[in-house]
Amino acid sequence: MNPKERAAEAALQYVENDMVVGLGTGSTADYILIAIARQIKAGRLKGIRGIPTSRRSEARAIELGIPLTTLADCPTPDVTIDGADEVAPNLDVIKGLGGALVREKVVAQSTRKLIIIADSSKRVARLGTKSPLPVEVIRFAHEASAIYLRSLGCIPTLRLNPDGQPYITDNSNYIYDCSFLPAGMPNPTETQECILHRAGLVDSGLFIGMAKIAILAGESDCETLRR
Ligand code: A5P
Repeated sequence: MNPKERAAEAALQYVENDMVVGLGTGSTADYILIAIARQIKAGRLKGIRGIPTSRRSEARAIELGIPLTTLADCPTPDVTIDGADEVAPNLDVIKGLGGALVREKVVAQSTRKLIIIADSSKRVARLGTKSPLPVEVIRFAHEASAIYLRSLGCIPTLRLNPDGQPYITDNSNYIYDCSFLPAGMPNPTETQECILHRAGLVDSGLFIGMAKIAILAGESDCETLRR
């Protein structure tokens, strides 16, 4: 079992019969989708309904046979299990290298319990020291958004597809990956406030104060951190 799979298997204990489960996006979250589908198939989990955090996880859930619902019908998912790109000691995280940060955050803010699963390489002492911070922006005048992001002390790079065209999110927006290297973010809360107060910026991959539990797995160990 690889570390991502080990973290996902450890998170399975938080999924109970009849729960509405937020389904994360990314290579680690894919393992929890696989684990939930396996338990449903084996009759060990009943009455589960999933809420996908992206078109990708929606397609994957359908492929695996996980019944789905929506936030409109179930506005408070019991638990949401998702990956992360960086996990700070206080369980604040950076997400969004997979491009689904806004839908992930919409589901995460609605859920009773957000559980982050990751391999231990995602652990950082300070956010922004390994991963860029993805920021979703509307396409209109996105170059002006880049100038503003630069004023927050980072180097923003428009995310491109392999063909050189801009990456388009599920919400039809662009993403700027904002590098705070090498020092990281001195004050993630302040940065997040600056991002939220600027027209044209939709949201960032900073999930502050949201995760209740983080499960970080190594080659042979698995650590559960609680807020
Ligand atoms: C998706 O938009 C992201 O937030 C992912 O959860 C994050 O990038 C972690 O992805 P991996 O599990 O693939 O590393």
